[in-house]
Amino acid sequence: MTKRFPDRPVTVDEFAEWNTRALARQSVSRRSMLKAAVAGAGGVAVAQFTLANAAFAAGGGTAGSAGVVVSGRHLSFVPASDGLLRPAMAVTAQLVSKTGTLPHHLRAWVEVGTAPGHYGDCHEADIQHLYGQYAIPGGPVSSQFYVKAVLTGLRPSSFYHYRVRLSDGTVSGDAHFTTAPATHGHDLRPPKPFTFTAFADVGTNTAPTDPKWAWGQDPASVTGAGGVWPAGVFDDNYYNAADPVAGTNGTDRTPAVTQTSLMATQNPVFTLLAGDICYADPDGSGLPADDSAVPGTPPGKNRYNPYVWDVFLTQIEPQAAFTPWMFATGNHDMEPLYGNTGFLGDSPNHGYGGHAKRLDMPDNGPHTCPSVYRFVYGNVGVLSVDANDLSYEIQTNTGYSGGAQLRWLEDTLREWRRGGLSDTVDFVVAFFHHCAYSTTNNHASDGGLRDKLDPLFSKYQVDLVVQGHNHLLERTDPIRYGRRTRPAPDGSTIRPADDGVTYLCVGSGGRPRYPFRPAPSPTAPPPPGVTPTGPQLLPEGQRYRGYQPAGGANTAENNTENVVNSYVWSKDGTAVNASGYPQGTKVPEVIEWSQVRYDDYAFIAVDVVPGRRGHRTTFTVRTLADALPGSGEPYTEIDRITFERTAGRSRIRTIERPGH
Ligand SMILES: [Fe+2]
Ligand SMILES: [Fe+2]
Repeated sequence: MTKRFPDRPVTVDEFAEWNTRALARQSVSRRSMLKAAVAGAGGVAVAQFTLANAAFAAGGGTAGSAGVVVSGRHLSFVPASDGLLRPAMAVTAQLVSKTGTLPHHLRAWVEVGTAPGHYGDCHEADIQHLYGQYAIPGGPVSSQFYVKAVLTGLRPSSFYHYRVRLSDGTVSGDAHFTTAPATHGHDLRPPKPFTFTAFADVGTNTAPTDPKWAWGQDPASVTGAGGVWPAGVFDDNYYNAADPVAGTNGTDRTPAVTQTSLMATQNPVFTLLAGDICYADPDGSGLPADDSAVPGTPPGKNRYNPYVWDVFLTQIEPQAAFTPWMFATGNHDMEPLYGNTGFLGDSPNHGYGGHAKRLDMPDNGPHTCPSVYRFVYGNVGVLSVDANDLSYEIQTNTGYSGGAQLRWLEDTLREWRRGGLSDTVDFVVAFFHHCAYSTTNNHASDGGLRDKLDPLFSKYQVDLVVQGHNHLLERTDPIRYGRRTRPAPDGSTIRPADDGVTYLCVGSGGRPRYPFRPAPSPTAPPPPGVTPTGPQLLPEGQRYRGYQPAGGANTAENNTENVVNSYVWSKDGTAVNASGYPQGTKVPEVIEWSQVRYDDYAFIAVDVVPGRRGHRTTFTVRTLADALPGSGEPYTEIDRITFERTAGRSRIRTIERPGH
């Protein structure tokens, strides 16, 4: 529920009045006035509307009299405080008009029924306004409108149609979803097998640009191209020309869009996105928004384009309007433009106020952490963790929860592994952004995540960790208390209760890829006292099903078990860096756990087969590469592991510690 501040606008009508007053207070030039009103008039609003209108029409929408369209519909689960899913569904969509405003007294409903054209139930929706002002004197105001409803009174495991209707006669196209199964524990009939999908670091392949207007220019005088938001800054289209998938001669130039579409082939019951959602903030350090130096970034600021969200929400709508999308927050999701609640004047602490309005993250986590929550689907418990609270690499938000997140995580894991839900939850998945375990050159492992989460996840037997931040695909062997327990190559069956936690980085969601850590050199030194020899001196290479290193294994690149050249972020030596945020230091490390390595675009599909109490239950993780060069296929399975547990028997009776 949105907190209401009496002196700040909430409804559309309140906003219209507030905006008029705010503009009247600015004793500034016509130019600044136009900047402040940029969201309400001119090229941006028209471009927004053109995009939204195309999606609205493609989805079967019917226009009403007010010139408003409904776009970017997406669904979210509605879990209770213990994580069990209510027979309900949260629906959010965007409302867009050519003028950038909405008519007074506009109302909205979401209609629900069991067949298209037959909508028996009508839920009044809340129309919420999201706006924020750039950190520039007299800077522009970003403005967007969202319609939100929670559909309650549904039945479990049931199929529903829905549509959004506005009071001016506007009606969205039909969409549909299936509610989650009731969670009975294992004494009753177990839920049917199901699949979910996951990725991270997605972004868009279409930049919202305004070619008719640029910062510092009088809009009336601008006629040529140029634009305040040039291509390749706020979109993914800065791929390396040599990238075999997204590069100049690549097999898929738009991997973010393609992979979202490919998910439909897997019929997922939900999708996880482990942070770095759309890159409206391409700098990703949570600093105040300032586009005055675009394409450069002013010191101590981040660039920001709120309309990237419009592109992203229309991009995912063909999937997300039909199956819940559950989000965790990455470093590019810290948006201080909106403060914590989406109201101007809030201290820009974590900057998740925009997400509160654009998305529907469940509110069953610690009350200070809007992107931390839990839900249970069938026999799988899912935890959304906010890595920004724990990171040593990017410390803008580090520690903002004051420890509340970790306390909540342990309480939840205790409930799922030792308490009342331990008969129900067989598999536990945690998803978050910065990697506890990765060897990628750009960010590698974050000691803040590893130090805090590895002991907790080892103790309570988390099965799978889905991470992002590093733009490639990497899977570890199972790890307990910081140590690999066994090798687990492609095709392995893993018993997490004995073997430990598997960490997957799926930052391969569409944003331009990163390389693995290069060969040891003065700029990429090995740890002190380590003298690499033989294959260790070769560049760190890839390893996945079907991969053939040029020249043969261990002659052209080191894709062996002995990766000597990774690093982990430490909090030691933390200092404010040149970009203006506090950052820790890189500590080189030798690692033994990097098992699968694919340096292009991929997502995972997880097939869960629940079982009757005492019988086998499995959880199979398939890694699907997008347009693998040479395959000629839309996607290719490049790795598969299966976790195995005994259904209803995942309660931990004694907590093991290292050395036991
Ligand atoms: Fe990213
Ligand atoms: Fe990131």
